[in-house]
Amino acid sequence: MKREQWGSRAGFVLAAVGSAIGLGNIWRFPYMAYENGGGAFFIPYLIAMLTAGIPFMILEFTMGHKFRGSAPKTLAKINSKFEWLGWFQVMIAAVIGVYYVAIIGWAISYTGLAVTQGWGSDPNAYFFGEYLQLGGDNSPSKLGGIQWHIAIPMIAAWAITFSAIYSGVKGGIERAGKIMMPILFIMVLALIGRMVFLPGAVDGLNYLFQPDFSKLTDPSVWSAAYGQMFFTLSVGFAIMLAYSSYLPEKSDISNNALMTVLINCGFSILAGVLIFSVLGYMAQEQAKPLTDVVSAGVGLAFVTIPAAINLLPAPYILGPLFFLALVVAGLSSHISILEAVTSAFMDKLKWSRKKAASIVCGVGLLVSLSFATNGGLLLLDLVDYFINNLALLTSCLIELLLVGWLFKIADIRQHANDISDFSIGIWFELCIRFITPIMIAIILGNKIVDTLNEGYGGYAMSDLLLLGWGLLALMLVIAITVNAKKTKEA
Ligand code: ALA
Repeated sequence: MKREQWGSRAGFVLAAVGSAIGLGNIWRFPYMAYENGGGAFFIPYLIAMLTAGIPFMILEFTMGHKFRGSAPKTLAKINSKFEWLGWFQVMIAAVIGVYYVAIIGWAISYTGLAVTQGWGSDPNAYFFGEYLQLGGDNSPSKLGGIQWHIAIPMIAAWAITFSAIYSGVKGGIERAGKIMMPILFIMVLALIGRMVFLPGAVDGLNYLFQPDFSKLTDPSVWSAAYGQMFFTLSVGFAIMLAYSSYLPEKSDISNNALMTVLINCGFSILAGVLIFSVLGYMAQEQAKPLTDVVSAGVGLAFVTIPAAINLLPAPYILGPLFFLALVVAGLSSHISILEAVTSAFMDKLKWSRKKAASIVCGVGLLVSLSFATNGGLLLLDLVDYFINNLALLTSCLIELLLVGWLFKIADIRQHANDISDFSIGIWFELCIRFITPIMIAIILGNKIVDTLNEGYGGYAMSDLLLLGWGLLALMLVIAITVNAKKTKEA
């Protein structure tokens, strides 16, 4: 059967950008920048973008285009012993897909709540207590019951993702990107247009942009910058391989990759500007230093921002607009995450798109309900840590070593140069073979040692073993088992 194709170049770029821009940009990037000293984060972030982000994106676009397959099929073509790596990536996507949708679900609820600021005057108590119903005795393995007020918006998000994937590359995914991305940009620009003129906003921006060069010697800042790059660009977990496998023969790969990276990272900076303007305003309104008004992590979007919305002029417009932007950004990424899984099943088992989409999204929905429970946030936090830090970095490292050392990387560069408008130089090979793997190896090594020594987030050892390390081991076993099964003939 002929492989599906994107209808137009713009359609592909919008879909790729839609995948890259997601919760990672609005929900994660600002608090990462904040936690890593604001302006200090930019230099490592830009270096990570140049040495890891751009080469990795060119690499995945070229591999998908050259080998025309989802991650397992493409990696198997690079080296037949490495199909398992593709399945490991597919499983990373599957796990991210089931918890990512929970955050989209919260954002859908908060879009409605924002109309009347239904979170009241204490958004912290509201989010953890009334909304999540997180109890003192809950833990990642003691989840409590399903909270239907969280599950229902999640089901709505699944319905949108499912209908896009079910409708195919051109009729579903491309169309979704073409609708969602312009809407997202308009919403975010409108928000920024208002927020930067709030009193105190400039102080927030100063915090974000004032470079602190002393931080450059702090390895954790580099680790955060490189760690964020792969997640935010959707590389290393099966997505961009699947998307680029639908590119037509004649495609300007390097340019498309460069655009996708620059638009994504530019958008992150826009999201930073938006959030830090609001924080600056809030600090001024409450006559507190900026560092006192911020809560890190999940709390930034669902506690600090609602508290800020309470203080805004016309909160009934700006509030819903902010959360709707989060929903749209999240959904366009969720579609790509699930497409990465769906396409792998289509390639391996020769399932039709409709069958693969129905089974993948159906099972995904059921599993994701575990995040709609009292302890769902704790499970999400734990699983996200292990997947996003350990599994994703491991996967990226092995992919780079595989392509850079067990394959003729010059062939990849040649392929990209043959069909692209501009040629990429030897720097590409240097990044893929040396710079990025060395950086990842150092960061990953440190993370593994830290996690073994200190655990994570104060969670019980049994939870870490079962839901963290155990999950990674299970993913590896499944990947190797599927690898051993023969691919069905068409
Ligand atoms: N790239 C997507 C994000 O940043 C997964 O949220």
